[in-house]
Amino acid sequence: SQRFAQFKLVLLGESAVGKSSVVHRFVKNTFDNMRESTIGAAFLTQSVTLPEINATVKFEIWDTAGQERYKSLAPMYYRNAHAALCVYDITNSSSFQKAQNWIKELKKQASEGIVICLVGNKADLEDERQVDANAVTAYVEELSGEGIQVFTEECSAKSGEGVLEIFTNVAKALPVE
Ligand code: GTP
Ligand code: MG
Repeated sequence: SQRFAQFKLVLLGESAVGKSSVVHRFVKNTFDNMRESTIGAAFLTQSVTLPEINATVKFEIWDTAGQERYKSLAPMYYRNAHAALCVYDITNSSSFQKAQNWIKELKKQASEGIVICLVGNKADLEDERQVDANAVTAYVEELSGEGIQVFTEECSAKSGEGVLEIFTNVAKALPVE
């Protein structure tokens, strides 16, 4: 029989890492080189299918604003979230540090069992890479040892590479009945 489940997903991360671009690639399959910085937060929905288990998973997506002045709003969006994408830009090491800070905050404040994906965006800019993929893997392994359900993926909202995989893998990690 056909199964259906609905989950709340939040995107967190420094301004300009490409959170909105990843969401728009996933929801509308478009990319904008001149995307405007998000004000407050944006809400979008999109579904993925998991043919292996004959399921459709619908995401209610909260795309938060990364600018510092909106930081206090974040708990409103990650509270009750079933999944979080903590996004950094592979060409910006401080954005990776910020993504780690979000994971720490989620670990303390978010729902138990939240599925977290640490997302390295702008993978098309390999020549400008500042964040070493092995260091990311090591960090994620460390977290798994602490009992946090985290995995990591790289993607490019610009080319589209890896974007659908992120949402599909999050869906697979969630409890679809
Ligand atoms: P805030 O809303 O301020 O938190 O930023 P954001 O994280 O939503 O970033 P946004 O999606 O607005 O993207 C910021 C800039 O990065 C835009 O100019 C995008 O065109 C660009 N960008 C986003 N994703 C990619 C990518 O995968 N590759 C490249 N080369 N540029 C990207
Ligand atoms: Mg945005």
